[in-house]
Amino acid sequence: MNLTLKIWRQKDAASQGSIVDYQVKGIEGDMSFLEMLDVLNEQLITKGDDPVVFDHDCREGICGACSLQINGEPHGPDRLVTTCQLHMRKFNDGDTIYIEPFRAKAFPVVKDLMVDRSSFDRIQQAGGYVSVNTSGNTIDANAIPVNKDDADESFEAATCIGCGACVAACKNASAMLFTSAKVSQFALLPQGQVEATDRVLAMVNQMDEEGFGNCTNTGACEIECPKGISLENIARMNREYLKASLKG
Ligand code: SF4
Ligand code: FES
Repeated sequence: MNLTLKIWRQKDAASQGSIVDYQVKGIEGDMSFLEMLDVLNEQLITKGDDPVVFDHDCREGICGACSLQINGEPHGPDRLVTTCQLHMRKFNDGDTIYIEPFRAKAFPVVKDLMVDRSSFDRIQQAGGYVSVNTSGNTIDANAIPVNKDDADESFEAATCIGCGACVAACKNASAMLFTSAKVSQFALLPQGQVEATDRVLAMVNQMDEEGFGNCTNTGACEIECPKGISLENIARMNREYLKASLKG
């Protein structure tokens, strides 16, 4: 395949960015989207040009680093896959592909296609954990029975990889799907009840402080999420937040 790429180039957070056109040739259908960008970068480096900066790590759908807006969709046209799992067979010879960073005030551009998603880390740090009592009284995890349906739902919520596609898909740049997944994985388990009140209040407050927008139930986040995180989690977080607010 020969392709025309229209890629967002931006020197740093303070500079103005713009779309720049590139041609790539000989792209195989079995290549991943990131391998296609590797081909482009080899061309650019060979010519002595600045390669396109993009975020990636595991390249197998686990780490959530590969945040690209492809033809206006986070992670591109396929469903339930990350950009690193997107294959070039989803495109046709002669296609023009627009490649931009995830756009949100809380995700400032670092360079080109790479954004700073440390706002997600700060939401996690605000309460996305269970404290462990290491005083010698620690209870064996298996001593507390967990309902199988709750365990399954908690596991589903825990598959969120923190990629940020939900934010990029949302017209309000809301982080509700991400935050609700992180709240839900504990809210569904007995082990998560001890800190439940503080957790949901702290995480939602941090989410607001970071400048993410509100949820208006459009559902674009659920459609674009590579892990199929359900809107049910947002409803659960809202219930948890109400309960915690009434207690507080
Ligand atoms: S909820 Fe889905 S889209 Fe949002 S960060 Fe988690 S995995 Fe990514
Ligand atoms: S590079 Fe890790 S999920 Fe894509």
